[in-house]
Amino acid sequence: MAKSLNNNLQKAKAGKKDEFYTQLSDIERELRHYREHFKNKVVYCNCDDPRVSNFFHYFSYNFERLGLKKLITTCYKNQNMDLFSQNDSEQAIYLEYTGDKNQNNVPDPAEIGIHYLKGDGDFRSKECIELLKQADIVVTNPPFSLFREYVAQLVEYDKKFIIVGHQNAITYKEIFPLIRDNKIWLGYGFKGGAGHFINEHYENYATATDRKEGMIRVSGVHWFTNLEINKRHEDLILYKKYTPEEYPTYDNYDAIEVSKTNEIPMDYSGVMGVPITFLDKYNPDQFEIIGNEYDLNIDKGRGYVNGKRMYSRVFIKNNKI
Ligand SMILES: C[S@@+](CC[C@H](N)C(=O)[O-])C[C@H]1O[C@@H](n2cnc3c(N)ncnc32)[C@H](O)[C@@H]1O
Repeated sequence: MAKSLNNNLQKAKAGKKDEFYTQLSDIERELRHYREHFKNKVVYCNCDDPRVSNFFHYFSYNFERLGLKKLITTCYKNQNMDLFSQNDSEQAIYLEYTGDKNQNNVPDPAEIGIHYLKGDGDFRSKECIELLKQADIVVTNPPFSLFREYVAQLVEYDKKFIIVGHQNAITYKEIFPLIRDNKIWLGYGFKGGAGHFINEHYENYATATDRKEGMIRVSGVHWFTNLEINKRHEDLILYKKYTPEEYPTYDNYDAIEVSKTNEIPMDYSGVMGVPITFLDKYNPDQFEIIGNEYDLNIDKGRGYVNGKRMYSRVFIKNNKI
């Protein structure tokens, strides 16, 4: 009994975490770097109730400016509807928008095609997969609790995407190999590495200065993408020189420990362990990712320096020396 109550609470908590809505300003700030990718493309937002999703708002209001071909949005009928969802409709729907027809530059209700789904709008359902197949680019903030499955599906259907996720996902064993093999990378990111999401039900732990009414502050959120962006081709400026004193070698792996990304030595040609936040600065022309503790099978799961366990690291090599 106690166990099932606990399970239910945990599920409810996970559900709550999945009900964070992205602000329009954060979407605009990221997507301005991807404009050239959208011309003549079908965009699919598959975790988006159009009544509350700013992704739907962004793409419908910028449809002509981006030169989109079609916008498809599916609305999930939430299972925890009484608890958290604003969705009071019994049936999941999807919307299709193909642009402004009456020259008022606004997506009017009459121009938006509303269609009913047979199922609940789960992104994994057959009918949503059929819509996914039509899409060129998927853009959304998917439920954090289903991030692994969500990305696996995008990769399986070979889709381009720009999605929000937590930076912890970088170390997931399903996600890291995609980053290592240059199939996914980090976008430009949220201001200060944290997002304020619209969520009226959540207790907010943000400090007083950083608190916003009806918002939850989530640190460590990022944008993940597989679309080309300029940032990915900018070299990190290196200024430090290698010394064995400043950059000790791990006890259990043949690499040096570099505890700050901006202190990567400019003249070291071997393997270096760097913080995960390095990925925000990663340029594959400049560096090669060798792996992380998990896929390099590093003894005790972490690098140790003089017996001290280090934080999680990404192991890299400088391509240019
Ligand atoms: C983090 S919220 C973000 C909502 C919206 N994309 C935004 O950014 O404002 C994730 C959304 O995914 C929906 N969702 C949860 N499980 C889903 C599933 N299996 N399939 C599709 N959507 C789902 C939730 O109801 C929630 O609205």
